[in-house]
Amino acid sequence: MPTETVYGLAGDARDSTTVARIFAAKRRPAFDPLIVHVADLSMAEELADWDAAARNLAKAFWPGPLTLILPRKAGIPDLVTNGMPGVGLRCPDHPLALELIRSSGLPLAAPSANCFGGLSPTTAAAVAEQLGPAVDMILDGGPCRVGLESTVLALQPEPLILRPGGVPPAALAEVLGRPVAIADSTVRAASLQGASPGMLASHYAPRQPLRLLAEDENWPTDPAVGRLLWRRASLPDGGPTRWLSEDGDLVQAAAGLFEHLRALDAAASAGIVTELVPSEGLGIAINDRLRRAAGLG
Ligand code: TXA
Ligand code: MG
Repeated sequence: MPTETVYGLAGDARDSTTVARIFAAKRRPAFDPLIVHVADLSMAEELADWDAAARNLAKAFWPGPLTLILPRKAGIPDLVTNGMPGVGLRCPDHPLALELIRSSGLPLAAPSANCFGGLSPTTAAAVAEQLGPAVDMILDGGPCRVGLESTVLALQPEPLILRPGGVPPAALAEVLGRPVAIADSTVRAASLQGASPGMLASHYAPRQPLRLLAEDENWPTDPAVGRLLWRRASLPDGGPTRWLSEDGDLVQAAAGLFEHLRALDAAASAGIVTELVPSEGLGIAINDRLRRAAGLG
């Protein structure tokens, strides 16, 4: 879909499988958090917790190139936020984008519509060049007016610009009534990876250490050890067991990754053992998360 900043690759933000397909189409090697696009403030209020400062900013700059990171409510899957408690929300200033959100009734997760490593596209032709057959439809809304991405602003614990963009810092400072810092790249990287070394989510403290099955090792049968398989297989009896995919589908694997880890984290008491998935397509991003979770990232 077109927006005033750059074209976005949009899908239902509430559906993990759709979100996984967005990552697959972009061939992203990691699950960066996605911005969720809404038609107005009332739609955004259903998705996150708002305070007065956030509301003032939305009133001043929406629709427009400002993404606010706010505490998410239930209904936004972990894959959208990379497991983090904050969700990025933005109301785009483009009639076609707004019409698409309104007529579908859906909050739309949309990263820029480029392939991993490519430039953000500002015309429908540039989208076709990069994503072409990987997307079902390109909505041509003409060239993007702003042409560079939205400003991403975290409000907690202090207002902090995570990505400079279409709304300048001084304009934000004026509405907030205080200066706003711009994060340096290390802070920004940390904010995108969630909290502690490699674990998946900062909103559920992982109690279980996770490790990768060694090459010549059999799956453990200790009933206290959780087992996360890449695909369905019959194992000797053992602890709580889940698989990422029935039959080797990487989209399905990505869509359920966080949910399976969360469930095993709750069900096991002596750690979780897992294995990597094939290192192709979405598998690269899945393995990136598994390695990090195992402390190898
Ligand atoms: O202008 C834009 O923002 C465009 C159009 C399509 O809306 N979208 C865009 O999405 O640039 P993307 O995925 O290329 O960049 C989104 C960036 C992430 O890389 C991250 O820096 C930040 O926004 N972000 C999104 N959600 C976040 C979250 N929950 N916490 C922290 N940062 C987040
Ligand atoms: Mg991008």
